[in-house]
Amino acid sequence: MKLFDNNEAPQCAAALLDWFAHAMRPLPWRTTYHPYEVWISEIMLQQTQMERGVRYFQNWMERFPDIAAVAAASEEDVLHAWEGLGYYRRARFIQKAANIIMEQYGGKLPDTPEALGSLPGLGDYTVAAILSIAFNQDVLCIDANVERVFARLLNLEESPRTTAMTGIIREQGMLMLPRGRARLYNQALMELGALICGKNPKCSFCPIKSFCESRRLGLEHERPVPEQKPERIAVLAVHAILMNKENVFLVKRAAEGLWGGLWEFPGTEYTAETSSEKAVQDMLREKFGVRASGMKCVGTVRHNYTKHKLRATFYELTCPDDCWQRLSEQESGMIVNRSELSTLAMPAHHRKMAGRYAEKNIPPEAKQLSLI
Ligand code: ADE
Repeated sequence: MKLFDNNEAPQCAAALLDWFAHAMRPLPWRTTYHPYEVWISEIMLQQTQMERGVRYFQNWMERFPDIAAVAAASEEDVLHAWEGLGYYRRARFIQKAANIIMEQYGGKLPDTPEALGSLPGLGDYTVAAILSIAFNQDVLCIDANVERVFARLLNLEESPRTTAMTGIIREQGMLMLPRGRARLYNQALMELGALICGKNPKCSFCPIKSFCESRRLGLEHERPVPEQKPERIAVLAVHAILMNKENVFLVKRAAEGLWGGLWEFPGTEYTAETSSEKAVQDMLREKFGVRASGMKCVGTVRHNYTKHKLRATFYELTCPDDCWQRLSEQESGMIVNRSELSTLAMPAHHRKMAGRYAEKNIPPEAKQLSLI
């Protein structure tokens, strides 16, 4: 491992900033650096890659041009604008924070770490990103790209996620930070990680290659040392697409917890000791007192989320009129025409299945769909 000295650190930062001045991508929030735009872009980019993030960002800003618009919107609209990004709690937190900002900060994002950190959904990274990128305060912000850059630059021999290595990155990152230019410095580090110092580094294009210890040692492909991650937990789920003529029955997930407040086809988790067919029938009987016929498997979706790997199997069933009447009385349920499915906020794996049902012809055979 190498550590910078007081001479080398500013030279390296200067070379990085020179490069960023011409290499930076023209991202929509990089014109005015409006705090609201920086906030939303940062939360979105924690969920997705840049290209998709920009699309979601533009759509979001059209729907909610300012914090007041987010605060005033229905939860359904906010979730719908977020749909597909996953981790829906983040969208709810944005709206909660928007309400607090309207009530306590006159509709403007505050500019202190304490006030920002007390808003829902703003962790250390987001607070640092807003302070430095929106308000240009001398704060370092470290995301996965920045970790990778420092892991190579300093040739860290452990994962940059360990407490010890995080401390070194913080200390060296602050040593390099050119005072008064944190907005550009932090983004330059991120941009370098995204465009040059990626998984397969393009060292010949790197503006700071002459400072890079792992390149000097020919170890750039061995860095960063990967984090020891536990295996994902396997989860099995079944869902019933209950149909009556052109109508479908949906349930709303509890507001708190995973995919909170989104609409989905009713279902349950089950274990490998039970068959998926039996799990569906048991679930329908126990949860809704319903027996449905004509059960047909219409697809399986694999979906990774947080620490889990989900395999969800969907069955289509036809519901007779008396059962349908019982379903229509369910408090957390809703019956919609299948053409309306596209207007509702749903978890990604349900959306994938619903997309096929919103089309005119329901595909007859089961298909494997993957969201991994
Ligand atoms: N990733 C997260 N925020 C970013 C930004 N402002 N620029 C480049 N990459 C980013």
